[in-house]
Amino acid sequence: MSWTPSSWREFPIKQQPTYQDQNLLKEVESKLSSYPPLIFAGEARTLKEKLAKVGRGEAFLLQGGDCAESFSDFNSLNIKNLFKLMLQMNMVLMYSTGKPIIKVGRIAGQFAKPRSSDFEEIDGVKLPSYRGDIINNIEFTEEARVPNPHNMIKAYNQGAATLNLVRAFARGGLADLNKVHQWNLDFIKDNPLGQKYDELSKKIDRSMKFMAACGLTSDMVPQLHQTTLFTSHEALLLNYEEAMTRKDETGKWYDCSAHMLWIGDRTRDLTEAHIEYFRGIHNPIGCKVGPSMNEDELINLINVLNPDNEEGRLNLIVRMGASKIREYFPKLLKRVRDEGKHVVWSCDPMHGNVEKSSTGFKTRDFDNILSEVAQFFEIHKEMGTVAGGIHLEMTGNDVTECTGSTSCPITASDLASRYHTQCDPRLNANQALELAFMLGEIIKD
Ligand code: PEP
Ligand code: CO
Repeated sequence: MSWTPSSWREFPIKQQPTYQDQNLLKEVESKLSSYPPLIFAGEARTLKEKLAKVGRGEAFLLQGGDCAESFSDFNSLNIKNLFKLMLQMNMVLMYSTGKPIIKVGRIAGQFAKPRSSDFEEIDGVKLPSYRGDIINNIEFTEEARVPNPHNMIKAYNQGAATLNLVRAFARGGLADLNKVHQWNLDFIKDNPLGQKYDELSKKIDRSMKFMAACGLTSDMVPQLHQTTLFTSHEALLLNYEEAMTRKDETGKWYDCSAHMLWIGDRTRDLTEAHIEYFRGIHNPIGCKVGPSMNEDELINLINVLNPDNEEGRLNLIVRMGASKIREYFPKLLKRVRDEGKHVVWSCDPMHGNVEKSSTGFKTRDFDNILSEVAQFFEIHKEMGTVAGGIHLEMTGNDVTECTGSTSCPITASDLASRYHTQCDPRLNANQALELAFMLGEIIKD
């Protein structure tokens, strides 16, 4: 069947806003289609090549960032802290795996959110759910919850400015391996985890000095003073994604809103609009795989999304939950392995482990997160397949949203103190770094 960037419109679709002013919507869509792309197709192809390496076990994928970016938390410090945290985790994982780490942020476009209910009720007042800043506003008022097409322009502009800063950090010196010490965030520095990181930094320093003595310095070897942070988000709001879809000189279509896009667990129905849209773009793509996926459905999905069985094209992001992964994942993995499908398997230990704390907060416990990651690796080991990467909701800030961890044990009663997320609870920088160290141990084994 022929595909166009708008052919998804002929299919049933879930999790979309209903815009009241259709003329305004059209105006915004056409304005966005005339704006410059945020990424260029060659970069998406480069990421695909790197992900092909991940699929073969020659590199490791680290994907992470906010559950939902917001207009109100948009500032350079938040971006810088997340960037530094990614660099720290990169170092820890690179040191333990001995492999290149492919860094992909949930950043510069991660604005649209699927919701479990269309409505939210507080004290008897029922309003449409918040769907992410690209759609409506989080305040609990009738007016705030009306979807506004203009938010797409704001999201585009924020995405552009964020990406600009990320590129500057990646290329402008912050990522220089002579600066590993400086990536340690202030609130981590003095605790045991910060010290553990500091010990690692010292080892890297020694290697850098050794290499300098051999005549290899970071001003001569770009890999030592530059890095790449690719961008990604859930391509949920297809009006926005369609407007950002461009044909490159090879004649292929790319979604130029981010390097990599993924399909959420709630919108991956084979007969629906999101699958239709994704099958036509040539970016590397992801698809969430939750406990409701069965083997036949997964194979059909792979056939539609990656008909040529290309390496690096499709990342299956497994999000079962610590108590379910043992039951549901091995049979999927076995079938995909036996059919010889090339996919990148990564583990999202966040979305299957949501719980309500005794203090009323939506939270996730560090032990469950760690347990799902450990089981994911164990299952791959048993099957002789490649555990390619990890997909996390995390922030470089010192928030209190997930409970547990050794480095900063957050209890249910601590959650209220700095619970800042717009949507799902994120690991704070301590918790994310601790997870990276533990993951390093698991991989080494
Ligand atoms: C997400 O990644 O923020 C998300 C909503 O995930 P899922 O589709 O797996 O529930
Ligand atoms: Co989330």
